[in-house]
Amino acid sequence: MNNLIYMDNAATSWPKPESVYKYMIDFYRQCGVNPGRSGFDMAIEAGNILEDLRGRLTRFLGGDETAPERLCFGYNATDSLNLIIQGILVESDHVVTTNLEHNSVIRPINHLVRDAGVVATYVPFNGQGFVDPDDIRKAITKNTKLVIVNHGSNVLGTVQPVSEIGAICKELGVTFAVDASQTAGVIPIDMNSMNIDVLAFTGHKSLMGSTGIGGLCVRKHVDLRHSRSGGTGVRSAYPYHLDEYPYRMEYGTPNMVGVASLWAAQEWIEEEGGVVAIHRREMELTRKLVDSFRKIDGVITYCCDSLENHLSTVTMNVEGLEAGDVGIMLDVEHDIATRTGLHCAPLVHEQLDLTKIHGGVRFAIGPFNTEEHVDKAIAAVTEIASLARDRKVVSGAGSK
Ligand code: ALA
Repeated sequence: MNNLIYMDNAATSWPKPESVYKYMIDFYRQCGVNPGRSGFDMAIEAGNILEDLRGRLTRFLGGDETAPERLCFGYNATDSLNLIIQGILVESDHVVTTNLEHNSVIRPINHLVRDAGVVATYVPFNGQGFVDPDDIRKAITKNTKLVIVNHGSNVLGTVQPVSEIGAICKELGVTFAVDASQTAGVIPIDMNSMNIDVLAFTGHKSLMGSTGIGGLCVRKHVDLRHSRSGGTGVRSAYPYHLDEYPYRMEYGTPNMVGVASLWAAQEWIEEEGGVVAIHRREMELTRKLVDSFRKIDGVITYCCDSLENHLSTVTMNVEGLEAGDVGIMLDVEHDIATRTGLHCAPLVHEQLDLTKIHGGVRFAIGPFNTEEHVDKAIAAVTEIASLARDRKVVSGAGSK
């Protein structure tokens, strides 16, 4: 494992900053108790860090600073996206979304389409991997209750024009939700000025926290119905789930180790010079990777002709080989970890006509990748493409 070149940071960032690991352990040893349920000192201290993080992330995401309680914690972006989708749509409503979505949006919507008569429109992306805001405008009808868009594609790495889409939704009076799974922590987000009404995030990608923590930020003018209920730690005699935030969207004991990880990671992001600086460093390496891939005979890259409005996520294929086989060669022969297949975003691959070769090979650079890692990845792909051209390797077992 020591020689592993980890380039699967779009799945989860790894490693985490040392300060994050350390704080998680220290915090859990010193005050790993239930926050907000009891009045002893440790419980108060645990509650303090939870509330401090609410305020911090509200500012980080440009939510309503006077209402930090509307930053609610859950387990990951999927968890939050389910709460958003089920908290807004009712029978016969129309929802507009895109072909860039992850299954964390597609599947909750499809369940409502199948079981509750919700109508969904999926807007395609253009040849460069961007959704045209005008296409979103055209898709909105008088029944449209929600527009939900993936801010950064986990397959193509393209960052969508959410400000423009937000302005259209505001003008037409439709709630605008953003899936910021891939962007929170590397692309500046300002819900207020971008007219984002609700946003879902996960903690374990570019926010540099642990798995098992994520959440949603709900602007003051929006309310979500609660689709779950349970313990809140306050007003226990009340027989129903509480309407007030954050309880409205939180259920049971929170993941306090995850909260600690995110708190320490916020410090780390600041120490590193902030989101823009981290992104700039990742993109320098990404540019080198992409420029080199594009020069290799037999390598196909997708939607990265320009790296403007792009994440450090790049999907490619090697002609003549299935994506999964390239991934296995990268792993077994070169110690390079990537993610192959459909990346839980089947409509992207369908639109690119990649389903029959089982998707693509995704390289996702993170803050701890180095130029040496990139050079090794380029050398590995050069070798695999050369073997494929000479037909010294052929695809047999495919990926999922
Ligand atoms: N959604 C994560 C990915 O794209 C897991 O790999």
